[in-house]
Amino acid sequence: MSTDTNLSKEQPNPAVDGSELIRFDKVVKRFGDNTVLDQLDFSVASGKHVTLIGPSGSGKTTILRLLMTLLKPDEGTIRVGGEYLTHEEKNGKLVPAGEKHVREVRKNIGMVFQQFNLFPNMKVLRNITEAPVTVLGLSKDEAEERARELLDMVGLGDRIDAYPSQLSGGQQQRVAIARALAMRPQVLLLDEVTSALDPELVAGVLDVLRDIAHTTDITMLCVTHEMNFARDISDQVLMFDAGRVIESGSPEKIFSDPEHERTREFLSAVL
Ligand SMILES: Nc1ncnc2c1ncn2[C@@H]1O[C@H](COP(=O)(O)OP(=O)(O)OP(=O)(O)O)[C@@H](O)[C@H]1O
Ligand SMILES: [Mg+2]
Repeated sequence: MSTDTNLSKEQPNPAVDGSELIRFDKVVKRFGDNTVLDQLDFSVASGKHVTLIGPSGSGKTTILRLLMTLLKPDEGTIRVGGEYLTHEEKNGKLVPAGEKHVREVRKNIGMVFQQFNLFPNMKVLRNITEAPVTVLGLSKDEAEERARELLDMVGLGDRIDAYPSQLSGGQQQRVAIARALAMRPQVLLLDEVTSALDPELVAGVLDVLRDIAHTTDITMLCVTHEMNFARDISDQVLMFDAGRVIESGSPEKIFSDPEHERTREFLSAVL
C-alpha cells in the first residue's frame, strides 16, 4: 500500500451522496512509467447499471481490479458505500487500510471475470456455497438453499453435481455469476464475461445478465464489447480513454450522438 496519500481529515472530502455506491476520487494507477489511470474521478449510483467502454489497454480492467483490491492505487481514494476501500480513518486521519477493513468493504463487491475462475476441484454446488459459508458464516443448509435458487435462476438447477470441467464455457460462466451473487453483493463487476465464449454460448449468458439487471436492484459496473447488451441494460455509459472518463451519458446519447471525436472513432470501430 502506498502511504503517500495526500488526504487528511482537514481537507474537504467531496460529499458522499447517500445514493453513491462507488466513488473514485483522483485515482492514479501506474505500472512503471505507464500511467494507466490519471486522476480518475467517477461514481456509480446505487442500483444503477453502468457500462465502461473504451479502447483496449485503456485501463478498464484496472478499474475493476482496484475495486476488487487485487491492485492498489498509487494516489487518490476509492469509496464503496461511503467507506474507503483502501484507507481507514484512525484517530481522525486517513491511513492505509488494514486487511480486516479491506475484507469488510470488499464483501459488498462481487466480480465475474472473463475466464470464469471456478474452483476446478469442487462441484458446482460447492463452488457457490464455499464463500457464503467460510466468509459470511452461513450454515451449510442456508448456503445450499441459496445456491439452488441461484442455479435455478441461471438455468443450471440440474447440474449441481457436475465439476466445472464437465460444463460448457457458457454454463461455467453462469455458475460464476451465481457464485458472485451468492455473496449478496451490493455491486456486481463484470469484465467482458462473454469474450472467452464460443459465439453460440454468448446469448445464454447475456440473457441471464439481462434478467438480473431487469429483475434485481443490484448495482452493476460492466465492461463489455457487446454494445447491444450495453444498450439494453445500461443506465449510463462511460467512455474511457487515456486514463480518464472523457464522456458519459445515457446509452442513447453515447451510441447515437456522442460528443467526442474519440468516442465516435471508437464506436465506428466496434459497432
Ligand atoms: N500487472 C500489470 N503490470 C504492468 N502493466 C499492466 C498490468 N496490468 C495492466 N497493465 C497495463 O495497463 C494498461 C491497462 O490495462 P487494462 O487491462 O486495464 O486495459 P483494458 O482497458 O482492460 O484493455 P482490454 O480492453 O484489452 O481488456 C495496459 O497498458 C496494460 O498493459
Ligand atoms: Mg480488460
